[in-house]
Amino acid sequence: MTSATRSRKATVVGAGFYGSTTAQRLAEYDIFGTVVLTDIVDGKPEGLALDMNQSRPIEGFETKVVGVTTDPATGAGYEETADSDIVIITAGLPRKPGMSRMDLIETNAKIVRGVAENVAKHSPNAVIIVVSNPLDEMTALAQLASGFPKQRVIGQAGMLDTARFTHFVAEALAVPVASVQTLTLGSHGDTMVPVPSRCTVDGKPLTDLLPAERIEELVARTRNGGAEVVALLKTGSAYYAPSAAAARMAKAVAEDSGAVMPVCAWVDGEYGIAGVYLGVEAEIGAAGIRKVVEADLTESELAGLKEAAEAVRAKQCDVFAL
Ligand code: LAC
Repeated sequence: MTSATRSRKATVVGAGFYGSTTAQRLAEYDIFGTVVLTDIVDGKPEGLALDMNQSRPIEGFETKVVGVTTDPATGAGYEETADSDIVIITAGLPRKPGMSRMDLIETNAKIVRGVAENVAKHSPNAVIIVVSNPLDEMTALAQLASGFPKQRVIGQAGMLDTARFTHFVAEALAVPVASVQTLTLGSHGDTMVPVPSRCTVDGKPLTDLLPAERIEELVARTRNGGAEVVALLKTGSAYYAPSAAAARMAKAVAEDSGAVMPVCAWVDGEYGIAGVYLGVEAEIGAAGIRKVVEADLTESELAGLKEAAEAVRAKQCDVFAL
């Protein structure tokens, strides 16, 4: 690790399960100087930070975790987050059983707007990674409210959806997850576009290994992946796989790695789609999105991606007016 990396600071806004596990993963990478964890619940981020710091001798990391309670009305507390290189916004309500991510739109829009304004004020050069739902719309809103260049505001969804798809394929074929490559694009919701034509197992096309209807079942389960966990948990939503995905994106930014990942990014002409945040593959570096990488898609996958783009575009406009 370089000392330049060690001097980096990451902030996670929201100390629910998603936020706190993300902070823990970032701290355990041991590549940041400081990870700040914030919440509006008095004492919660401080308590979690103290607990995480006490795990340092056991897990063997030096990153310091700083917990800070923020006041949504005045923005007090955000000064602790100042000059973060990366800010992960997890703030907002999770789903309850039976809810769609879209049912959260009004409540979470107010929360995410306020957070993004405070982030922009205190960390004007940060890369923002949004995970609040509905994901694509909240990412667009965070960009609008922060006023940041679009490549510096990214949403986390494709890494998670792809991981779920990979897990289901690995289970279906009883093979190690490491042998499976999958891809999902589009929205983090009903218009998610799993891309079977880009899925392989040990380099062999998935379409040669499973019948189309079995692949379709796995696709459907992937699209419903978050709701399946919500229904089982009964309160709250998934956080282990989501936080793993968000933390990996933050790591790619911190290390300026150029890793290509499926993320929610501003699309400006790629796939013949423009002016919308959408799940696509992109190269991630210190400045956020280096470039959107276009995949070879079948006609129906491309049609699905365009449909997703139009669905997000319509909601993106609604959310700006909230
Ligand atoms: C999920 C939520 C976090 O997919 O969007 O689990």
